[in-house]
Amino acid sequence: MTDILTAIAERRATKRFDPSYQIPDDELRSILNAAMHAPTAFNIQNWRFLVVRDPAQRTKIKEAAWNQPQIEEAAALIVMCADIKAWEKNPARYWDGVPEKMQQTYVGMIRNYYEGHEQVQRDEGMRSCGMAAYAIMMAAAAHGLQTCPMDGFDFKKVGEIINLPKDHEIVMFVAIGKRAGDPPPHGARLSFEETVRHDRFA
Ligand SMILES: Cc1cc2nc3c(=O)[nH]c(=O)nc-3n(C[C@H](O)[C@H](O)[C@H](O)COP(=O)(O)O)c2cc1C
Repeated sequence: MTDILTAIAERRATKRFDPSYQIPDDELRSILNAAMHAPTAFNIQNWRFLVVRDPAQRTKIKEAAWNQPQIEEAAALIVMCADIKAWEKNPARYWDGVPEKMQQTYVGMIRNYYEGHEQVQRDEGMRSCGMAAYAIMMAAAAHGLQTCPMDGFDFKKVGEIINLPKDHEIVMFVAIGKRAGDPPPHGARLSFEETVRHDRFA
């Protein structure tokens, strides 16, 4: 098991995967299950992970993604989707099992926070899926696999290919598999000082 700081430091966006590698179902399930432990605001779990393994679907998606090879070569392609209306779909179930008063308090807070605030609903989906995407990348690393986060594709076309529900948004892809060859040279990282500020912006 790779320790978490090593996994963070060594992760690279993988551009070429070994197309012969098949991910076992239980391993993929374990990776996705790990992502389901990521946090969401009010625990609304407004992420949906579409696993694309069908070769015909992959070919169509690749064509909508400037023919990036990861789409077909990865062992699994996860389309990270946000259910923008998760907040209003029986929200009590997000707090099943807690005392009833607490459950009702959360249901009220969820409604107050999201109702009529379309931008917040959408932004929340981006936050949730971003967290889950990174959790997938780390869980994949723990299984000795590599990943590529991706948004280089035509969102509208991919939405049509996957029959995206009207109240969902695609956030990004995560391709998972076994790396083929060495990764290309790394881009520069900004300095710590430019990245980390204290107390307020100047
Ligand atoms: C949201 C997002 C979208 C990205 N889209 C693509 C993509 O479409 N194709 C690709 O090859 N890499 C993509 N990348 C990978 C970045 O190019 C890569 O993470 C960045 O250059 C830093 O390199 P590293 O991940 O190896 O540290 C994406 C990364 C992120 C976070």
